[in-house]
Amino acid sequence: MTALHGDSPERGGMAYKNIIVDIEDNICLIRLDRPEAMNALNLDLLRELGSALGEAQKNDKARAIVITGSEKAFAAGADIKLMADKCFVEVFAADLFTEEERAITRIRKPIIAAVAGYSLGGGCELAMMCDFIIAADTAKFGLPEVNLGVMPGMGGLGRLSRLVGRAKAMDMALTGRFMEADEAERSGLVARVVPAKKLMEEATAAARRIAEKSNVSVMAIKEAVHRADEVALGEALMFERRLFHALFATEDQKEGMNAFIEKREPQFRDK
Ligand code: CAA
Repeated sequence: MTALHGDSPERGGMAYKNIIVDIEDNICLIRLDRPEAMNALNLDLLRELGSALGEAQKNDKARAIVITGSEKAFAAGADIKLMADKCFVEVFAADLFTEEERAITRIRKPIIAAVAGYSLGGGCELAMMCDFIIAADTAKFGLPEVNLGVMPGMGGLGRLSRLVGRAKAMDMALTGRFMEADEAERSGLVARVVPAKKLMEEATAAARRIAEKSNVSVMAIKEAVHRADEVALGEALMFERRLFHALFATEDQKEGMNAFIEKREPQFRDK
């Protein structure tokens, strides 16, 4: 395993101080690592995360990505201490969080959020930017920004509304209440809930399963699902069908279908 942290000579890119990056078995594992602040998302952490994801996008050894935090907190939100003294003009002129969010959402490889403990505000928003969430039974989700006299600002309202429906999104954003893991699973916010001790095993196993597929079809699936979030259904279905057609131009389509017929495991080559 190659651990990339601090001044590690293997890191090959920028020095990460707020995250730890490991690449092993075709999986890029990114651990948010600001324990003193419950992994609150300051700009340094978000920029390191964007950079690590950009590196993973380019690295053939990273076929799927897992983002996680600690047992206590995936991330307890954007860093309140960073924002407390800012005025409107400062956050508007700096376009606070816009580039940081884009750096995450432009990644075309699949990203799983493995969430234990608090996933609040920007932390919940970060989890929702990922392609799906696997939660420990200790996970708590919330958009408590209303308690700070503000509102979610990293896509939380739009994404939560789509995932769990308007009623629960309004309930959470207006009251600031937390949602436990079982409710999050019932509501469609998370894909699976697992015992806390098994979180990383389950998340990396899911990532490994994805990593075995053709990354052409994996990226096409991700693109089609994300496109469907943006456009009307008819357009989304047309885009999906055209991508489906396009995959017939790949060697992996021949390999996958022939392997099924020949009753053997496919050997995908991302071609
Ligand atoms: N920003 C900065 N520091 C934070 C933080 C945050 N979002 N969340 C926790 N911390 C810090 C605390 O200040 C504390 O630091 P000190 O030891 O230096 O005082 C440390 O992490 C531990 O936190 P607590 O002592 O509060 O731990 P707890 O177990 O009692 O409570 C918690 C845990 C419920 C997560 C609580 O810390 C909390 O409510 N955090 C804030 C959650 C929040 O409001 N998030 C939304 C942020 S705004 C946002 O995200 C905007 C956006 O949409 C982009």
